[in-house]
Amino acid sequence: MTPIGIHDLELATTHHVLSLTTLAEANGTDPDKYRLGIGQDEMSMPAPDEDIVTMGAAAALPLLERNGIEGIRTLLVATESGLDQSKAAGVWIHQLLGLPAGVRTVELKQACYSATAALQAAVGILSRSPQEKVLVIAADVARYELDSPGEPTQGAGAVAMLVSANPALVEIEPVSGVHTADVDDFWRPNDSSTAVVDGALSIRAYLDALTGAWDDLAAQGGPDLGSIERIVYHQPFTKMAKKAQQRLARHAGGEIAADGLETGSVYNRRLGNTYAASLYASLAALLDHEQDLAGKRVGLFSYGSGSVSEFLTGIVAPGYADSARARRVLEVLDARVPLEVAEYRELHATELPSGVDVQTPRVTKAPFRFTGIQGRARQYERTSG
Ligand code: HMG
Repeated sequence: MTPIGIHDLELATTHHVLSLTTLAEANGTDPDKYRLGIGQDEMSMPAPDEDIVTMGAAAALPLLERNGIEGIRTLLVATESGLDQSKAAGVWIHQLLGLPAGVRTVELKQACYSATAALQAAVGILSRSPQEKVLVIAADVARYELDSPGEPTQGAGAVAMLVSANPALVEIEPVSGVHTADVDDFWRPNDSSTAVVDGALSIRAYLDALTGAWDDLAAQGGPDLGSIERIVYHQPFTKMAKKAQQRLARHAGGEIAADGLETGSVYNRRLGNTYAASLYASLAALLDHEQDLAGKRVGLFSYGSGSVSEFLTGIVAPGYADSARARRVLEVLDARVPLEVAEYRELHATELPSGVDVQTPRVTKAPFRFTGIQGRARQYERTSG
């Protein structure tokens, strides 16, 4: 069977960042609650001229510069920060990236899980047409109400992945474990720009979905725990990965090396929750910070509230390690402009007026920007290159 999987990947985030120590000092919380209790240091925050389209296109652009556009016939955008009830965000991204018309483009949604559905759909398409490539983009803006318990777990970011045959990073193995359960742990109603969440229930639902997906993986003949070198998890906050690993070790009755928890959290600690992109930001961090994974099996646990989850595994390709990738991500994270709490609160409260033309202020230094709304249609431009 031709190996199929992630050939290249890249991460993008926002213009602004809020330090959680700054937030803690402003709201009278012990900063250790955020730093140690939930395991977060910072959260990315979009400028008015940024959204999932600008972040998604910015993540994908270097992939196209490195690999070319030849063979890309499918663009899948996974998000729960949808910008339109009808048009797929990928159609704007397709135009911004200058992709040819001969591409099928679609948006996928199921909370934070949908990027994994997109990856599996890509693997399916390529099993039939291994000469093609699929561009998968996961992009989200995580928003909770100001002063709510969810507030320090906000964030924003995008991961773009080029999926192909004979991948240079991770081959996705054919067997995976899946799990669906109807639970009201977290959702965002159509009339709300922030999520509704029952925090304690969401943590229980996540852990139950983990053991459910693991049991299904075992029932499908998947690998045993001992043969998995590292596991990366969906990370709404990085402490969640720790909770997940403890639960899995107990449930599956085995040891899991703790090293991957630290390395797999390097980017997520600074991005905050990136919903659909979170698991793949964690995978990027693992690949960028561990040099001895070639030929080893990694596990990926994907969870989307509501809920759908999947436990999949992959084999890391020889020659995957590339120190330039880690340097690029750190540059992107370090380049963010810090916000004071008053600026953050004002930005958070700003909503686009409905039904009128709008021009957004020019803030972002990213290669693409959201310029505003004309005749109720969103407008974008390429700012560089
Ligand atoms: P909270 O009520 O503010 O926090 O909400 P807490 O009181 O439960 O404390 C959190 C941790 O900090 C605890 O540790 C405390 O002990 C510790 P734990 O018992 O969990 O190990 N702590 C301290 N540690 C050190 N020094 C201190 C200190 N004080 C307390 N001084 C909660 C926390 C995560 C519930 C909240 O932020 C929230 O509701 N977040 C949003 C929901 C969420 O992220 N759920 C995760 C699972 S669901 C999921 O992953 C899906 C999602 O990504 C969406 C999607 O699928 O689309 C969310």
